Amino acid sequence: MRIGVLTAGGDCPGLNAVIRSVVHRAMTGHGDEVIGFEDGFVGLLEGRLRPLDLNSVSGILARGGTILGSARLERDRLREAADNADELCAQYGLDVLIPIGGEGTLTAARMLSDAGMPVVGVPKTIDNDINGTDRTFGFDTAVTVATEAIDRLKTTAESHQRVMVVEVMGRHAGWIALEAGMASGAHGICVPERPFDPADLVAMIEERFARGKKFAVICVAEGAHPAKDTMDYGVGEIDKYGHERFTGIGTTLARELEARLGKEARPVILGHVQRGGVPTAYDRILANRFGWHAVEAAHKGAFGHMTALHGTRVTMVPLADAITHLKTVPEDRMDEAESVF
Ligand code: F6P
Repeated sequence: MRIGVLTAGGDCPGLNAVIRSVVHRAMTGHGDEVIGFEDGFVGLLEGRLRPLDLNSVSGILARGGTILGSARLERDRLREAADNADELCAQYGLDVLIPIGGEGTLTAARMLSDAGMPVVGVPKTIDNDINGTDRTFGFDTAVTVATEAIDRLKTTAESHQRVMVVEVMGRHAGWIALEAGMASGAHGICVPERPFDPADLVAMIEERFARGKKFAVICVAEGAHPAKDTMDYGVGEIDKYGHERFTGIGTTLARELEARLGKEARPVILGHVQRGGVPTAYDRILANRFGWHAVEAAHKGAFGHMTALHGTRVTMVPLADAITHLKTVPEDRMDEAESVF
């Protein structure tokens, strides 16, 4: 079998572990040939590819980023890929394509699959918002990075009797904010799923100070927003990939709290630091398992599906089920955090 692999969309820790796992299982388990397309679907369209073998994936298990490069693809070019699905397979002699990516990539994978290309997807995102899988690799690393950052920010906040507003990633789903906030004991957690009222944050911080605690940390997802008419906050702009770009809730909220409380507040935007660097052991293992199962699925002809974690088992789910909607934080998980949303 000749297997094509690519990584598309925003990168995340664990991508290299999947690539390595695909190459190992394909070559040593089945005697397959593997080629890697550079910069996601762009490389597929532009004929930028390279053969992958055991040596080319040696030493990459713990490396962040992706050795193949990644890119987001504009919608018109995706259509172009789908319209030429048969020709692309013939041109590269592909028996299967394994795209590793988030919602946008899996939507593209579904389009290619519907157009006749044999595709097996592998979900990835630090946001953990892909429907159909309990977890995506990259998420554990992002939560670990954000948790450590908040732990550190607490000590400096306490020294200066400040309020820290830590903005983490998560445009539509607040999984990172929820779990990093819980793991670090943040005093307030704001997620996109439940608009917050700054007055509740103010009341919580004042109550803390009244009982002698001299600092507070609020963990806010980049897509979190205040409830209507509780505070001035503009809507985000839509970029050329159709993604909403927010105007910086962390900074706006820190300013608002400073004004309302009369205490110093500082915003900290963690940004892409959450996506860089070495994957945690959990993410490496999940990525390894997804790579192995993707190759097995290809050999069983389970095209149009993606790998998924259900409980402790890796299984295959239709791409169609994965892209219907994003997996957002449910109410009961927010209630458990017992924070000010
Ligand atoms: O989807 C992953 C993600 O890291 C989001 O959490 C974030 O909003 C977005 O990608 C950032 O995208 P970019 O790398 O294009 O700035």
